[in-house]
Amino acid sequence: MSRNLVTAGVAAALFAGCSFEPEQPVLEHEPNAKAIAENVDLANSPTAQDQLAGALEMLFGTPEHPGYMRLESWIEEEYDPNQGSWNLSDEEFDALKASNRAAFAKQIAAIEAGDLDAVARPRYAPDLWRRYEALVAEAPDDLNATYADTEGTWRDELVYLFEGYYPSLTATAEFYRQQCNHCHGPSGGGDGSTAPYLNPRPRDYRPGIFKFTALANKARPRHGDLMRILEEGIYMTAMPSFRRFSDAQLHGLADYVELLAKRGETEILLALDYAADEGFGGLEKVQETYEFVLDRWEKAADNVIVYDGEVPAATPERLAAGQRLFLGAEGEGANCVSCHGPTGIGDGPSAREVDPETGLERYVKDEWGNEIRPRNLARGIYRFGRRPIDLYRRIYAGINGTPMPEHFGMQIIEADGSKRALDEDDIWNLVHYVRSLGERPLEVARHDTSGNEEHAEGH
Ligand code: HEC
Ligand code: HEC
Repeated sequence: MSRNLVTAGVAAALFAGCSFEPEQPVLEHEPNAKAIAENVDLANSPTAQDQLAGALEMLFGTPEHPGYMRLESWIEEEYDPNQGSWNLSDEEFDALKASNRAAFAKQIAAIEAGDLDAVARPRYAPDLWRRYEALVAEAPDDLNATYADTEGTWRDELVYLFEGYYPSLTATAEFYRQQCNHCHGPSGGGDGSTAPYLNPRPRDYRPGIFKFTALANKARPRHGDLMRILEEGIYMTAMPSFRRFSDAQLHGLADYVELLAKRGETEILLALDYAADEGFGGLEKVQETYEFVLDRWEKAADNVIVYDGEVPAATPERLAAGQRLFLGAEGEGANCVSCHGPTGIGDGPSAREVDPETGLERYVKDEWGNEIRPRNLARGIYRFGRRPIDLYRRIYAGINGTPMPEHFGMQIIEADGSKRALDEDDIWNLVHYVRSLGERPLEVARHDTSGNEEHAEGH
């Protein structure tokens, strides 16, 4: 068994930092009970479970002091994933500054007027306020004096603090506790106190699987994909839009979701690999797993589904071709009918299966173990965007974590016996046909007599 791993206590000390306040209850991450239960050796060893918790704390910190362990190579390259703003493009950073100027307009106006007493403490930005107070404590009476080695003045520097604000992981973790915990849980397990009452369930980030990205190949989401989810919310589910918050706050939340997901993936992989005689394979193996997980996220951008051309018009020919694909059985068509049914209401034969435990029929389960129903396409209501490009991406790549498969490149056999793979044109034909299903008169759409949709998705 490996004794190389840093124990929880040591790791806690590493991450304690200067703001650590021992008198407060220490927040800890919750272990992934399912992942532990799946490995008998690990389930039987409380010591190994402690080691796992310690390793994760070393790599990702605690809910109170989250932070990535920096690899040697990153330190050499002066790369620090804990500085989220480093990952923004120039355009993103400009947009962030504009948003900050609006969010902190009053504070910035007061600084520019030289009236520091009138600068109010902003909500949800404790790290910004700390930095501001520290800078003010050092500031000379004359704010027009040159600041340090810069070309600007102290006044510019104080304004820049607000303008260039990007929340720390620690500040965001606190914000996450206020806004997300009750649904997504403290460790992103999708198990907050409200979760049992919701269908669909809040996402469990830990497997690293996200449904609504612009990516193929089940790639991990990019920062921008997570931003869009936070801006839009997920229609017809409990997941709200957080557009009322500033860009900086949303960037921070996207970073924190990413940290929880990477932590969760690392946990699942380490739990899977544990063996009573070999432990976790030593610190080196732990670090390898960490790098593997981080690398997978890094590569996400290679998988963006781009479509450069115009969206083709929904001609009768395209609708007819889309219908043939939709209704065509496996091999002959795209077989959407098997799940979505002939009218698209979600009553195809593959939508349901017999539960091996109860012997009763039920909807098939998704990656997270919850029953899932194919969307009722006759309603024309989509969870993540009704723009043609949104539907194009859904049909192209499928919906991660659900039975809805990838369709681009799917092999079909034409009537004349020739084989071919579904291409961009086929996907557009399907998009148009799906949209036409949703534009039918309401009476047809209401033909969904199961009533399931209201219960399952209405929030
Ligand atoms: C009232 C409950 C609720 C709250 C509060 C909530 N969520 Fe969600 N969230 C959900 C549900 C439900 C889903 C899953 C929807 C689905 O599967 O279609 C979800 C899904 C997500 C996803 C996954 C999207 C994908 O592509 O798979 C992310 C990321 C997310 N939420 C982030 C957040 C963050 C960050 C917060 C806090 C700022 C938050 N959520 C607050 C209920 C909630
Ligand atoms: C094996 C079952 C299965 C097959 C085959 C399937 N789907 Fe789906 N589809 C689903 C499920 C399940 C969902 C709901 C996913 C969710 O709720 O997150 C869904 C959702 C959708 C959505 C909703 C997207 C949104 O944003 O709400 C569209 C559109 C869709 N499917 C179109 C198609 C088309 C077109 C085909 C064939 C090319 C197809 N599906 C094949 C199971 C399937």
